[in-house]
Amino acid sequence: MALTHLRGKTAFITGAASGMGRGMARVFAQQGVNIALADIDLPSLEEARDEIAKLGVDARGYLLDVSDRAQVYEIADAVEKDFGKVHIVCNNAGVGSGAPSLDETPDEIFDWMFAVNTMGPIHGFKAFAPKLKKHGEGGHIVNTASIAGMRMAPGMNNGIYAGTKFAVVALSFAMQDAMAPHKIGVSVLCPAGVDTNIYRAGRVRPDRFGGPFEREISPGLAALLKAGLSPDQIGRYVLRAVQDNDFFIFTHPETRQWVMEWHERVMKGFDRADELRGLLGINNPPQPDLAKMKRG
Ligand SMILES: NC(=O)c1ccc[n+]([C@@H]2O[C@H](COP(=O)([O-])OP(=O)(O)OC[C@H]3O[C@@H](n4cnc5c(N)ncnc54)[C@H](O)[C@@H]3O)[C@@H](O)[C@H]2O)c1
Repeated sequence: MALTHLRGKTAFITGAASGMGRGMARVFAQQGVNIALADIDLPSLEEARDEIAKLGVDARGYLLDVSDRAQVYEIADAVEKDFGKVHIVCNNAGVGSGAPSLDETPDEIFDWMFAVNTMGPIHGFKAFAPKLKKHGEGGHIVNTASIAGMRMAPGMNNGIYAGTKFAVVALSFAMQDAMAPHKIGVSVLCPAGVDTNIYRAGRVRPDRFGGPFEREISPGLAALLKAGLSPDQIGRYVLRAVQDNDFFIFTHPETRQWVMEWHERVMKGFDRADELRGLLGINNPPQPDLAKMKRG
């Protein structure tokens, strides 16, 4: 069920101090939605909260590390206490890291990126799903993945990031299945370049993953982000997806080609599977399709 009457409802948004999260906060606030902003960067969070409050809604900031499960549950309770019912949850906080080649990437980069990008949305989902179900008025959950969660391409050296985001796409689909009976929609946001501070993500790496670090942004990535959409444009896509109950939010239609190229690679793998059946002389009966059996 689509969430159409938004005025006076509350949205909880992680990574709301910067970039897309802040864009979502602005766009929802312009519709009269109260905003619970959560972020690990306190000065930027306070600045963002003040900006959103000026739009005439109830806006409150919550210092939160989304990779810390206990903190997410604690903040979810605090948000419910402060605002009452929460209808929209945007699990958006995420980090990127220009790493050396995959085999040389330090273990703590793997741990940090999966903890924030993949476990963050899982914690947000687990903490808020019972609250959305409890009020029974429906709701919507938006998980920020990336177009990197839909395809791989050789030479991009973004394997960890893509791994964290492929998982978010798959989990979002499963969340949609789980939430549909409760009139709670789920979307997964898959943008390409957006002009944000993502290249500075190292500055907010928690100590348990090695602490803050700075890195030079490559000219290629800088150009890609600068040429990207604005955070507010992303916010408008997200608002529309919530209103129309869309699952996929693709913000760069030209990336259809990238996904098609990836799927062609996958299909080539199946061509090889056909060939191998013959070569190896394996002729077992086809697997039953469990998904179809369940639907039937
Ligand atoms: N910028 C792009 O081109 C692009 C493209 C596709 C997907 N994304 C995704 O969009 C999301 C938002 O990123 P952005 O581009 O707006 O970057 P951003 O750096 O401008 O904003 C991300 C926010 O998340 C916060 N954050 C980082 N770690 C956190 C943690 N552990 N707990 C809580 N907050 C934390 C940061 O402080 C920051 O305010 C991310 O999930 C990112 O992976 C970005």
